[in-house]
Amino acid sequence: MKKLILSLITAIMLVPTSVKADEGMWFLMFIERLNHRDMQKMGLQLTAEEIYSINNHSLKDAIVQFNGGCTAEIISKDGLVLTNHHCGYDAIAELSTAEKNHLKNGFWAKDRKDEIKPSSLFVRFFVRMDDVSKRILSVVNDKMTEAEREKAINAEIAKIEKENNEGGKYTVSVRSFFQGNEYYYFVYQDYKDVRLVGTPPESLGKFGGDTDNWEWPRHTADFSMFRVYGDANGNPADYSQENVPLKPKHYLPVNIGGVKENDYAMILGYPGRTNRWMPASGIDQNVKYAYPAWVEGSKVGMDQMKKYMVQSDALNLVYASKFAGVANYWKNRQGMIDALTKFGTAKTKAAQEAKFDKWANKPENKEKYGNVVATINNYYKLTNEKSRHDNYLMQLLRTSAYGTISRSLGRQLDNYAKADAEKRVQMAKAISEMATEFFKEVHIPAEKDILAAQLNLYATKSTGYAISPYVAEIGKANNNDFTAFVNSAFDSSVLTSLDKVKAFLDTPNEASIANDPLVKLSNELLNHYNSKSDEIAKAQNDFGASFRKLVEGLRESKIGTIKYPDANSTLRLTYGKVRALPADKRNDAKINNYTTLDGQVKKYKKGDAEFDLPERVLEMNKNKEFGRYADKDGSLHVNFLTDNDITGGNSGSPVLNGKGELIGLAFDGNIEAMAGDVIFDKNLQRTINVDIRYVLWVIENFSGAKNIVDEMTLIK
Ligand code: ARG
Repeated sequence: MKKLILSLITAIMLVPTSVKADEGMWFLMFIERLNHRDMQKMGLQLTAEEIYSINNHSLKDAIVQFNGGCTAEIISKDGLVLTNHHCGYDAIAELSTAEKNHLKNGFWAKDRKDEIKPSSLFVRFFVRMDDVSKRILSVVNDKMTEAEREKAINAEIAKIEKENNEGGKYTVSVRSFFQGNEYYYFVYQDYKDVRLVGTPPESLGKFGGDTDNWEWPRHTADFSMFRVYGDANGNPADYSQENVPLKPKHYLPVNIGGVKENDYAMILGYPGRTNRWMPASGIDQNVKYAYPAWVEGSKVGMDQMKKYMVQSDALNLVYASKFAGVANYWKNRQGMIDALTKFGTAKTKAAQEAKFDKWANKPENKEKYGNVVATINNYYKLTNEKSRHDNYLMQLLRTSAYGTISRSLGRQLDNYAKADAEKRVQMAKAISEMATEFFKEVHIPAEKDILAAQLNLYATKSTGYAISPYVAEIGKANNNDFTAFVNSAFDSSVLTSLDKVKAFLDTPNEASIANDPLVKLSNELLNHYNSKSDEIAKAQNDFGASFRKLVEGLRESKIGTIKYPDANSTLRLTYGKVRALPADKRNDAKINNYTTLDGQVKKYKKGDAEFDLPERVLEMNKNKEFGRYADKDGSLHVNFLTDNDITGGNSGSPVLNGKGELIGLAFDGNIEAMAGDVIFDKNLQRTINVDIRYVLWVIENFSGAKNIVDEMTLIK
């Protein structure tokens, strides 16, 4: 008894006196109502209107989505854009050659005319959003199949888009939230003349490589800089020498005063996807079937790419960006398997669902909710093996450029062959440009190896669900060694060199594309990927309806505790604090919430692919040349931790203090909290950020590009 009372007292004492928001990816339009008081208590000094306003300039005007998958922010009156190095990576690699290797050596434009335009890169400004749930839900009813429902909703969405795009000036996107229980529309403006301003050398920008990726303590200068250009009136425009740097509505001032434990920190950005509402059996499916196949398939592709990447700088540039993308989620998915298993997340969820099921089977709820949990579980049970199969196949399609050739270059050549002479003349230029781009991104010997290895894995590992009959047949005839098949397919295919493609454009032949062995294989794979049995189609339909009801019911019954919708690449805000991970001995600093340049130098391994450093960094660290960016403690802080709730897509997001000033750049999460996309653990989940002072030190002191820093508004 005494023990019980004692533990009760400890429990009460452990309840924090201040509200801790950390968990939650919030909508800007509801900040005032849901979060603002809490945010103020924690240290926010801005009004909700200063963060998001439709009529006045506000913080949101400085936040952009970067090339569809990352976040970036505007940090000067001349449209300077700051994002992560790993977000600019693809563009930087594209603009690099073995001779002018900006990826390897770094790059800073001396003036505007040195800024370089990659082939395609855009930033997206957020104009406004609104709730259209009532309107959308008024066109559907419970008797509709999921397909009918989708059709009705899409028709309404098309109307909403048309009503709000102002004759094509804006991109309007209507998205579903809470699993189809709410709908909001978002109005955006896209700018596509975006140029590279500068980047640190890869040794700094990707310091620690895949070994340190998703890990704390971290020492990475994960940033790169771009500039957005518009026409003379500030409107979006195609690339032109006449374009001028955009004068943004708002840009972020930069605070170089440094941060400490418990300082307020908020992040605005575009988190891509979370599964916080995912049912237990869905988590189980991912842990046991989907993710293990994903991890294995990624690794097979990575090993083949790596074999060639190490051969030369030129080959490294061909695959560097693809490799980084695959490696990133290879490690993430293994981390998720480990964390979800260790924390028994599926069990926690199952307990909640059991509670829900009881509620759902009360007489007053039964008709609507009675079957929800059973239907969901049935769907996952039926699709476990298919999900393993799909993930092996997905990694093949992701790592092999030829897996999807029938939908890219192959389709263009097919259209070309079928067109009349006049049409062909119009099409030839675009196709030959597309082909030129395509062959820059492939190296044929590597592609052969990737495809053969992936086919072998796919044919032998997907045992519980039928693989593509076409692949099965080839495998059977060759003892699942696809080398000979792939070699002969590459020999006779039209799609394996720019010369062959150009020759085809001169003398097109419809039959030759339809019969091209690589196009044929790709078609077979994609068709199989997209096909399903009637039984599974039916289960999927019922699952869609049930998952929507589960979320509705969890909210109605208050058995679910989450107050925000899953991430879906729409703008969100998360607020919390600068916060150390529970003390342990891994860090080089006294408080485990930041790392230093000294710590980075301690990790240095001369000539290593991941931990090498420029000589100059070693020198500058030894001489403590930290300039105006040294911390009060005399060291140069490089990365720090906050307890914000972010996920992939938030990469490049600004970390802001209570006044809305830039203090850092979010770039990663920690491996201990890899279950975070499914369940937020406030003791473990952290955001890893680059300290803005390290960013400026790399630009000004290390690279000598003070002209760039001079554009910014610095506050101390
Ligand atoms: N984990 C980071 C993210 O998903 C990407 C880091 C890229 N670095 C790397 N070594 N692959 O945002």
